[in-house]
Amino acid sequence: MFCQVAGYKEYFLLNFAPMSRKMKNKVVTNLKIERIAAEGKCVAHHEGKVVFVNNVAPGDVVDVRITKGKSSFMEGEAIAFHEYSKERVEPFCSHFGTCGGCKWQHINYELQKTYKRQQVLDQFTRIAKVAIPEVLPIIGSSHTQYYRNKLDFTFSNNRWLTREEINSGKSFERNALGFHIPKMFDKIIDIENCFLQGGISNEVRNRLREFALENGLSFYDLRNQVGLLRNLIIRTTSTDETMVIVQFGENDRDGIERVMQFLKLNFPSITSLLYIINLKKNETFHDQEVITYHGKDYIEEKMEDLKFRIGPKSFYQTNSEQAYELYRVAREFADLKGEEIVYDLYTGTGTIANFVAKQAKAVIGIEYVEAAIEDAKLNSIVNGLDNTSFYAGDMKDILKVEFLKNHPKPDVIITDPPRAGMHEDVVKMLLRLEAPKIVYVSCNPATQARDIALLAEKYVIDKIQPVDMFPQTYHVENVVRLTLKS
Ligand SMILES: C[S@@+](CC[C@H](N)C(=O)[O-])C[C@H]1O[C@@H](n2cnc3c(N)ncnc32)[C@H](O)[C@@H]1O
Repeated sequence: MFCQVAGYKEYFLLNFAPMSRKMKNKVVTNLKIERIAAEGKCVAHHEGKVVFVNNVAPGDVVDVRITKGKSSFMEGEAIAFHEYSKERVEPFCSHFGTCGGCKWQHINYELQKTYKRQQVLDQFTRIAKVAIPEVLPIIGSSHTQYYRNKLDFTFSNNRWLTREEINSGKSFERNALGFHIPKMFDKIIDIENCFLQGGISNEVRNRLREFALENGLSFYDLRNQVGLLRNLIIRTTSTDETMVIVQFGENDRDGIERVMQFLKLNFPSITSLLYIINLKKNETFHDQEVITYHGKDYIEEKMEDLKFRIGPKSFYQTNSEQAYELYRVAREFADLKGEEIVYDLYTGTGTIANFVAKQAKAVIGIEYVEAAIEDAKLNSIVNGLDNTSFYAGDMKDILKVEFLKNHPKPDVIITDPPRAGMHEDVVKMLLRLEAPKIVYVSCNPATQARDIALLAEKYVIDKIQPVDMFPQTYHVENVVRLTLKS
């Protein structure tokens, strides 16, 4: 569910317009990086054309080798720095530059927030092209490190070697446990310390790797699809619960038992210790049996007086603290008085639906993933909420005239689609429904702006609130309130 597009037209122009290859591999010298555009790409200009450059900062002066030349823009990589921007700060992680995780560590956090807010403003000006109120100051994250509650590490027998390692001529351990190198599915960077997740995360990963190496357990071969140790997922909560899931690529009972016993004995604070034997070609496990080795088969997160059960297959926003800020904005924008029918579209595990249920007459949540809907229902039960109902299916197939014949019309619609935004049929249905208020939560302001351009036929935008869920990255969440034109 990754959508890099602005609008359909922009997407076409950017990707399929005739390409001028003349520039490829040419080096453009002394380019001044001007600003940051969508998706964190830095922008400079050369001979009237936009040049997108990665891994630089506004204010840097660089020589750029052109890697892609199209008729309207070019892409390139910085090969030499003449001046470093004053906006730069020293990256705190030794993996910065190789690991794809926190690409903005070299930009100070205040400026990261400014750029994120600017991204929202740019997308709404360029794509939505409708009248907008002031974009409110972004709600920053009080934690700019250790803010994630979930990390997913991959075992590999093909560790990524740095240029220095290769040039040294030495031989190195090739087994690794860490993250995928961007755009290289079979190369894994061995992570020694990750600043994204707190608790026992770093220790579990490092000690498990050490144990596996000492005991000669095989690390997964991503090309040939063999090997015992495949994947490690660590989930933590603000209530100090920890879930650890190990995926095995072979059904080796003895090996599995040794790994799980090691984790159980050495990490008594793991409250949910699970494993999966996944013999499939890919490491997704929504269709695989999850076996509880020790403890509960879920962890529990708290938000105000609500409890949310998170199972191994459940989605939960990855920055819990900022998810709360996001939901608070959504609830404030919904401005519920207790009598409203609320639709929560793309409800996931019903977190927003359950979060606003006490202030509404009834909440209807719709979501694609059936297991998530089961979690949403369970979360209503756990919290004693009896005014919610949930439906599983593709939004464009569920939100139809038939459904509306059997359910009350919404007074408020909260919608939180994936990065690709809403299907056009869903937008059309929202226009037909004419709910007095729509609260649109999005992790991609470009597709949000595209959808809002269509909704503008009947709605005005009266609030725009960006929220930062992912410090050190270009990602930005944005909440918009639309009110029906009178
Ligand atoms: C950004 S998440 C929002 C989750 C939820 N609102 C939350 O805060 O936890 C988007 C959700 O949309 C669901 N989804 C994606 N495509 C869908 C579709 N075509 N129809 C229904 N749901 C869909 C995904 O499974 C995911 O749970």
